[in-house]
Amino acid sequence: MGRMDGKVAFISGAGNGIGRATAIRFAEEGAKVVIAEIDPEAGASAERMVKDAAGNTGGDGLFIETDITDHDSTKAAIAATVEHFGKLTVLHNNAGGSTMDDGPVTEAPDEEFWRVIKLDLFGTFLGSKYGIPEIIKAGGGSVINMSSNLALMGQGGRDCYTAAKGAIAAMTRSMAVEYAGDKVRVNAIAPSVTQTDRVKKFLEADPTIIQQGTRHLLGLGEPIHIANMALYLASDEAALTTGQIFPVDSGITIS
Ligand SMILES: NC(=O)c1ccc[n+]([C@@H]2O[C@H](COP(=O)([O-])OP(=O)(O)OC[C@H]3O[C@@H](n4cnc5c(N)ncnc54)[C@H](O)[C@@H]3O)[C@@H](O)[C@H]2O)c1
Repeated sequence: MGRMDGKVAFISGAGNGIGRATAIRFAEEGAKVVIAEIDPEAGASAERMVKDAAGNTGGDGLFIETDITDHDSTKAAIAATVEHFGKLTVLHNNAGGSTMDDGPVTEAPDEEFWRVIKLDLFGTFLGSKYGIPEIIKAGGGSVINMSSNLALMGQGGRDCYTAAKGAIAAMTRSMAVEYAGDKVRVNAIAPSVTQTDRVKKFLEADPTIIQQGTRHLLGLGEPIHIANMALYLASDEAALTTGQIFPVDSGITIS
């Protein structure tokens, strides 16, 4: 019996990186998983991987082209999820990420501030706006937001991203209080540097991040480390866990 038997999950930005690893991990454990991704090529490729991972577990994968920053697109993607798989029980607001354009508040361009606020924060807001009512209709479930170690510690150089991820941590706690009565648990994961293809390019280009790597007590993370935390939070094993921000950070926030 899989840890995600009977679950239907919607993961934004699951065409690559952490979201894709999580979609695969969920499917291995019997979940039906929607890959809500803006990039059609990445989405279609991830769908194939998720279906392969599902094998005969009862899990499945479905790519739905989605712009999580757009009302109509997000609303339609959630509706298509329910139409195809019958319900929604797990919402993972994962799409986001920092860029090399970020910087200290005195230097970072406005465009980067609004880009990350729109994708990471507003994307989480919209996913929740349309996803939570469906989870409530299904009798409850789990929302997993994506924060960052940068929401939990003071580290200079990325003030746009820090602002978005700090707000996501705060919203996670208020949402947990609001929806507990509907049996919807809301938690967030706070990864530190995780070696997705996007971040590997950062690591090559920015020596600061490589120095930061020396304070990762157990080495830098891989997408599977974050996926395994998401799996716990999505499953019924986390039945009493809500409103928490979980670092998966190789000890960087305590070192
Ligand atoms: N990788 C890390 O080091 C790290 C650390 C802390 C937090 N995080 C967070 O984890 C999450 C995933 O990061 P990742 O490294 O796997 O990123 P990634 O760039 O590998 O994957 C993100 C995916 O989101 C998709 N996407 C972008 N805009 C979208 C939109 N508007 N609608 C739908 N999909 C969209 C991209 O096409 C891409 O496939 C992000 O929220 C990021 O901030 C990552």
